[in-house]
Amino acid sequence: MNPSTEADRLRTALNRAAHQYYTLDAPELPDAEYDKLFQQLQALEAAHPELLTPDSPTQRVGGGVLAGFSPVRHSVPMLSIRTETDTTAAGAQAFDARIKRELKVAPDAPPIAYVAEPKFDGLAINLRYEQGLLVQAATRGDGEMGEDVTQNIRTIGQIPLRLIRGEQNSSAQLTLLPSEDSARGADDWPIPAVLEVRGEVYMRRDDFDALNDRQREKIAAGDKTAKTYINPRNTAAGAVRQLDPAIARQRPLSFFAYGLGEITPAGEGGPDFATHWQVLQALKVWGFPVSPLIEQARGADDLVAYHQKIAAARDSLPFDIDGVVYKVESLELQRQLGFVSREPRWAVAHKYPAQEQLTTVQSIDIQVGRTGKLTPVAKLAPVFVGGVTVTNATLHNELEARRKDVRVGDTVIVRRAGDVIPEVVAVLADKRPPGATEFTMPSTCPVCGSDVVREEGEADHRCTGGLFCAAQRKEAMLHFASRRAMDIEGLGDKLVEQLVESGAVKTLPDLYKLGLVSLTALDRMAQKSAQNIVDALEKSRHTTLARFLFALGIRHVGETTAKELARHFGNLDAIMNASTEQLLQVPDIGPIVAQSLHTFFEQAHNREVVEQLRAAGIEWKEGEPSAAALLPLAGKTFVLTGTFPTLSREQAKEMLEAAGAKVAGSVSKKTHYVVAGAEAGSKLEKARELGLTVLDEAGMLSLLSEKA
Ligand code: IVH
Repeated sequence: MNPSTEADRLRTALNRAAHQYYTLDAPELPDAEYDKLFQQLQALEAAHPELLTPDSPTQRVGGGVLAGFSPVRHSVPMLSIRTETDTTAAGAQAFDARIKRELKVAPDAPPIAYVAEPKFDGLAINLRYEQGLLVQAATRGDGEMGEDVTQNIRTIGQIPLRLIRGEQNSSAQLTLLPSEDSARGADDWPIPAVLEVRGEVYMRRDDFDALNDRQREKIAAGDKTAKTYINPRNTAAGAVRQLDPAIARQRPLSFFAYGLGEITPAGEGGPDFATHWQVLQALKVWGFPVSPLIEQARGADDLVAYHQKIAAARDSLPFDIDGVVYKVESLELQRQLGFVSREPRWAVAHKYPAQEQLTTVQSIDIQVGRTGKLTPVAKLAPVFVGGVTVTNATLHNELEARRKDVRVGDTVIVRRAGDVIPEVVAVLADKRPPGATEFTMPSTCPVCGSDVVREEGEADHRCTGGLFCAAQRKEAMLHFASRRAMDIEGLGDKLVEQLVESGAVKTLPDLYKLGLVSLTALDRMAQKSAQNIVDALEKSRHTTLARFLFALGIRHVGETTAKELARHFGNLDAIMNASTEQLLQVPDIGPIVAQSLHTFFEQAHNREVVEQLRAAGIEWKEGEPSAAALLPLAGKTFVLTGTFPTLSREQAKEMLEAAGAKVAGSVSKKTHYVVAGAEAGSKLEKARELGLTVLDEAGMLSLLSEKA
């Protein structure tokens, strides 16, 4: 095949594959095959530079760094849309009423036909094609003059470099009302000599998140110039106006077409469109992505329904929108309606409540949760965002607060999308007041003054105050009283709140001091309800060890673990005095739970609470410890090393485990015994270093017989 034909063939195949991949999202060519053809074309073009064409897929990569963007005068001005700020259904009704008034239609005339579209939150672009070839891409600018951003726009895979005449397999994407449009095919829309396509360049949310993940990795790796991006819209706009196409290429952008600029008139061989809907069909046939969310609508009711439907879908869409756009469908009616100043009378943008707003940080408070977790919360100057007034935004933890570097006095962007809790997205660094200091977590609990700790590998700071911390008390009390714990009927949210706030109850044991007198003294507490509480408290005194343990609210000790502990140890004193090694013997208890239990019972104030509860008359039937807990070597950890004279390593292990011991693989200060045979190496050395007890096989056997 001659090189020119071959280059043609490769370009056509690659452009077709790109359209299927990027625009139709239905790839037919395997990636490896695409790469192979791409390399063939590159080689061919390198050998025959005269064969290079501007629509070659090898030319998407962009050129060198630009000094600036050249101005472009739009041959047809890029208008803006009038905005309907009433975000309720009335906004759609007002538009329909206005259109009917301006068109002077009779009240009983059939409803007006519209096309309803999402209002994409990106930036508007004009794409100019001459003889089917992309020759220029320009930003909107002031509507008259934009900037030439062709180089960067060429890197967007969804934008065809050459128009195609694809099939109209689009009815699956666009929901057509029964009309003559559905009968139209590719043949009805020949490619015009001059075509300007208008649409929105945007960044998908997943692409935005992935980009920010990469930025965070760079920051973590110490890259001082790296920063995270604020939102997809600004990032897309920044990428389009990026002077270095190599950088622009690293920002994955997408595109939706929604209109036309200049086009060869029907009288001169251009397509003869009657409706905006037909325009959208043709755009798809020519190879552009058109949003599948665009719909035909009839009358105000359809517009209202569309506004509500898209609002409900808003948060789960793969991209940001800030409203919907209604357009009169008939191009003839559009012409009749005309323009006022720079806005067409035939279209309106019907907004949704903004999901991001600017406000200032008045203070950063620390909240203490049920498990003692400390959460920094930014107190904000009240701001209406995402449909509600927001005054608080969680900063999650110290790491997050520092990563965003939120300081008191800062101007910040808050975001509230859907029912998600409000978030500080970013700080406007240039608005920071002088002297604002970096946020740090307090080293003592702001509520009870206990030490604050951050466990290794954890992002959260915690108050060590436990049941003594007032902030934790209320939640601890609710948990204590809950049905699966002490099951104190009637001790709910409201009552606990009253009891804690009035100071009547400071610790769990105080609950059992409540009598009719103190209860009836509370607001809205009738004699009868007070008596019920007293009865419920009395009833709860007779419980089980498992319920009592669970009720204490020890971190990581759920209902199942509490039952296992009760079964294994039989009585509370054994649990309170158990070493972590002994706790580890309990089925399903790992190091984290064991450590948590051990730490809890190490605290004198927690022991005191337990004693006071017992003194208040809480009782249960203590059982016998399980067989495992009674084994002679329960709670002891052994390490075996070297070769033994009579036993194999496996046999020795079995004997030790049968006696309740645990056999570990490596030596640490938690090891109780090291059993060493011939040629014992580093483990024996380490045992000596740590001063552990070292036995030989005979020593181990006599320990076993002596304990048995
Ligand atoms: S049509 C004459 N359709 O909204 C109407 N615009 O304020 C021309 N936009 O700059 C625009 N989604 O960036 C139209 N489905 C949509 C749109 C849309 C977003 C943006 C566009 C334009 C702005 C108008």
